[in-house]
Amino acid sequence: MRESAQSADLLEWYDRHARELPWRISPGARRAGIVPDPYRVWLSEIMLQQTTVAAVKAYFEKFTARWPTVVELANAQDADVMAAWAGLGYYARARNLLKCARVVRDAFGGVFPDTHDALIELPGVGRYTAAAVASIAFDRSEVVVDGNVERVMARLFDEHQPLPGAKTVLTEYAASLTPDLRPGDYAQAVMDLGATICTPKRPACGLCPWRRNCAAWDAGTAEELPKKTPKKKKPIRHGIAYVARRVDGAILLERRPDSGLLGGMLGWPGSDWIEGTPEEATPIRAEWKTLNGEARHTFTHFHLRLTVKTALVPMDRKPLRGEFVDQADFSPADLPTVMRKAFDLSR
Ligand code: ADE
Repeated sequence: MRESAQSADLLEWYDRHARELPWRISPGARRAGIVPDPYRVWLSEIMLQQTTVAAVKAYFEKFTARWPTVVELANAQDADVMAAWAGLGYYARARNLLKCARVVRDAFGGVFPDTHDALIELPGVGRYTAAAVASIAFDRSEVVVDGNVERVMARLFDEHQPLPGAKTVLTEYAASLTPDLRPGDYAQAVMDLGATICTPKRPACGLCPWRRNCAAWDAGTAEELPKKTPKKKKPIRHGIAYVARRVDGAILLERRPDSGLLGGMLGWPGSDWIEGTPEEATPIRAEWKTLNGEARHTFTHFHLRLTVKTALVPMDRKPLRGEFVDQADFSPADLPTVMRKAFDLSR
């Protein structure tokens, strides 16, 4: 019964300390019978993959204000959703978000399926998201393991095997503790514990409801866990971005192909991004001026340094690539961050 006493300790802590989050039903409201909206749970979990709660909040509010239901999201224009996602990164999530919304509209009558096995069939929904949505939205006892939970488990069990190899055993530990009572609140409680108490640096063990069960607390190893296999150093790639402005103020933009990095997003026409010296790839005949400095951005697998070139072009000049967008229809906020950095250099 160690598990259930332990989950009870955590739930009692959660009842007092749950974070207020825009997608969350508080434990008190939940007890009063208010149930979560699966659309909001799903949307928040997709946004929270690889992205912090602080960064997600404003995007979540913006999306749910504009598209309050999954059917409204499914009916949106692709370009509007990609523009609204701009700045959050990992743009495959936005493309899959739309695909998933349309499957829920067309195959499920606009109602999210309520089991892990059905959820995991949806586009963009992997093991983590299926478990999180089944647990949080439908109160099913699923093992929900994100980075926070991995850290909590590594410390609770004083597990020194490094990540990512340790993922399997950490998931087993998490499974051994997952209760049948209030599993949705429990899943959120472990995440909150990881985010607020069992933090990567300087964990607040003195405030932890699980301290007396914590092997790393006993061993004095909490702060050095979880161990991580050192990552390969990221290479530096170079590229050129071309910011062309027409005399009437229109801007030359190009939508990137759906697959690959920044897929489906608007951006500046440009060269390939390579580790050597990139070749010119001017999108329109013009007198190009190279700006001082470079736009720097880090992706998952490389650092990018973009040289930015600008030009002013006459009305009748036709681009070889991309399309002119009227000044009034152009908002830098619709661009992915790297492209916005290039634009900021140009003004
Ligand atoms: N991180 C990912 N999902 C979360 C959730 N539902 N609550 C808090 N933090 C999270």
